[in-house]
Amino acid sequence: MEKLYYGFKDNIKVEVFDSYEGLSRAAAAFIAERMKKKPDIILGLATGSSPVGVYDELTRMYEAGDLDFSAVRSFNLDEYYPLEPENDQSYRYFMNKNLFDRVNIDKANTRVPNGMAEDIELECEEYDAAIAAAGGADIQVLGIGGNGHIGFNEPDGFFTAETHKVALTENTIKANARFFASEEEVPRFAVTMGMGAIMSAKSIVLVANGGAKAQAIASMLTGGVDPLCPASILQLHPDVNVFIDKAAAELL
Ligand code: GLP
Repeated sequence: MEKLYYGFKDNIKVEVFDSYEGLSRAAAAFIAERMKKKPDIILGLATGSSPVGVYDELTRMYEAGDLDFSAVRSFNLDEYYPLEPENDQSYRYFMNKNLFDRVNIDKANTRVPNGMAEDIELECEEYDAAIAAAGGADIQVLGIGGNGHIGFNEPDGFFTAETHKVALTENTIKANARFFASEEEVPRFAVTMGMGAIMSAKSIVLVANGGAKAQAIASMLTGGVDPLCPASILQLHPDVNVFIDKAAAELL
């Protein structure tokens, strides 16, 4: 697929593609190259519709015998709270369906925040400790919310460093209602990695497509670092790789 634009700042590369398939293939190729160099790579993973194409492409490479997930470890960004992992709207279920069940990853090496944890503060502390003990992710995959959220770090007056429980905004509840039977069924809370764990990743791979993401992408890259656009914190990260389509790049 044609690459339309490349480069942005020293620490942020933006690649714009004609199609969702194009950006997904390029983002997957970036991840695959690192995986081949480091088979025991630590992947930070994201849910939402945006990274599905990346997971499809990684699966295709695995099926072709080009990728081996046997030594890979992963930490997912977030999970609804409260929600059972067996619920087909949980992010654990999503990851199993879209990636883990399709490749040779050892599920014992995959972590998603526990959306049923009785002691949620302890769960958050343990999650951050596990990420830190692993040395942080080698690559953190991110989507972006229409309001600029990453993981479930919603627009606010400040950035939160630690993994934490968060109340979802009306905007996010509405945006995610399409996956549930009704808006009432969308959990009102989530557990999300904070900015500390996200920023500790050695490289960021952010994927976005469609005009609904154009404002968030423009604010993230050109609006200055502002917790009202949580993704803008990535301007302070040393290695950000943004893969987007033309529609999402419209306001750049
Ligand atoms: C969700 C997730 C985010 C995701 C975002 C965008 O709320 N918590 O991690 O990036 O929304 O989702 P989508 O890719 O479906 O547009």
